[in-house]
Amino acid sequence: MTEESEFMTSPRFRVVTGVEHPDLHGLSREIIPPAWPEFMLHDPVGQGLDDCYSKLPQYQLALVDDAADGAVVAMANSIPILWQGDIDDLPDDGWDWALTRGLEDLAAGRKPNLLCALQIVVPRQFKGMKVSPETVWAMRENGRKHGLPQMVAPVRPNLKSSYPLTPIDNYVKWTTAEGMPFDPWMRVHARLGARIVKPCHHAMRIEGTIAEWESWTGLRFPESGQFVIPGALNPIEVDVKANLAVYIEPNVWMHHG
Ligand SMILES: CC(C)(COP(=O)(O)OP(=O)(O)OC[C@H]1O[C@@H](n2cnc3c(N)ncnc32)[C@H](O)[C@@H]1OP(=O)(O)O)[C@@H](O)C(=O)NCCC(=O)NCCS
Repeated sequence: MTEESEFMTSPRFRVVTGVEHPDLHGLSREIIPPAWPEFMLHDPVGQGLDDCYSKLPQYQLALVDDAADGAVVAMANSIPILWQGDIDDLPDDGWDWALTRGLEDLAAGRKPNLLCALQIVVPRQFKGMKVSPETVWAMRENGRKHGLPQMVAPVRPNLKSSYPLTPIDNYVKWTTAEGMPFDPWMRVHARLGARIVKPCHHAMRIEGTIAEWESWTGLRFPESGQFVIPGALNPIEVDVKANLAVYIEPNVWMHHG
């Protein structure tokens, strides 16, 4: 039996959306920040997630384990967008684009035709228990329920943080002996049937002053140049004279058709 059909016959967790949960947004503020390196919480576009909870609660999910006193074992955010082009032409500024575009579509009253996955977080105590494939599946099923059978994801290839000097175009081609993507998070999507579309090189842009980056990372940046940061997929670019450091995060578009 495939992972997918196992979930369909015996879901381990109850899926709750922001429509049913009394305060999914409040819960997300407790669960999500500790899961990320601090700098990842400073993408200005990311503030739009607040709007997702208030304006699109039906696409924000929690997976609840009733056998563990109703513990929340995962949270997930997604956003519907209108995409009239080819999936292969999705833009290079993946995550930032999707969140911005989805909120613009909503404000303009445009009817969406594609679900875009934005984030999945598994709290530390539930990591490594294969909760994440079930969460991707739940997000996709939720989209289907709302008339969006296709899902794309600007996937963050987590293990690339161990290979920050490798270009993303090379990294996405790395495979395991079984021919699956080398990256574990890309592999989760691939096992559920998603195909790699292409890298999106400018998925997120995070910038800050030198002092901000020093407080986010606990490192010192006494001179200009490139620096490797724990948890970052690429080096950051530091410009001491301009008092500015910039991180451009590469992701990978994947398509669940
Ligand atoms: C990414 C995340 C959702 C994965 O959930 P998880 O419960 O830890 O992972 P799972 O137990 O479901 O395993 C998924 C795969 O990742 C692999 N994996 C898990 N932890 C890993 C680690 N630290 N290093 C490398 N691979 C790892 C597993 O082996 C598995 O791959 P496999 O089945 O091919 O062996 C979770 O670690 C998380 O919340 N991370 C922080 C936020 C994030 O990066 N979200 C994803 C991008 S939006």
